Amino acid sequence: MKKRVLFVCLGNICRSPSAEAVFKGIVSQNHQSALFEIDSAGTSGYHAGEPSDSRMQQHAIKRGYRLTSISRKFDPLYDFDHFDVIVAMDQDNMLNLRQMARNEKDVSKLHLMTDFAISATYGEVPDPYYGGSQGFETVLDILEDAGQGLYKHMNNQPR
Ligand code: 4NP
Repeated sequence: MKKRVLFVCLGNICRSPSAEAVFKGIVSQNHQSALFEIDSAGTSGYHAGEPSDSRMQQHAIKRGYRLTSISRKFDPLYDFDHFDVIVAMDQDNMLNLRQMARNEKDVSKLHLMTDFAISATYGEVPDPYYGGSQGFETVLDILEDAGQGLYKHMNNQPR
């Protein structure tokens, strides 16, 4: 059975679509794409139907990631049942997700992206939306590092 992973941020136009693309890249490099379903969503619907933020896309493409996903709002009824692992980008997202959880099983699926970090020292993936270009680079740095840790976690390998 496929392992199903959902990345969640606020707008689903910067961090979580990047997490989706970075993690798909890691899975692909490991020849495991057929074994995973990987998606992203936002706790808000502010940008639903829109492509990823153009600044985020430009920083991502420099590292070889094409952000192709279209923003959608997290749907508790569908997403908590469908996905095995739901990964929040920051503490606000985590709190929102916890409040939407219907039971302990839902709660048990929730993780914070930076909990999978191998060498990065951030406690969350900082929102880059209102900041400068370094914020987008930091997002990608954290996602590449924690993405490797998440991949190992999902394959029961030590970090
Ligand atoms: P994201 O970034 O949560 O990483 O997609 C944001 C996108 C939009 C807004 C905030 C953060 N916004 O306030 O519209």
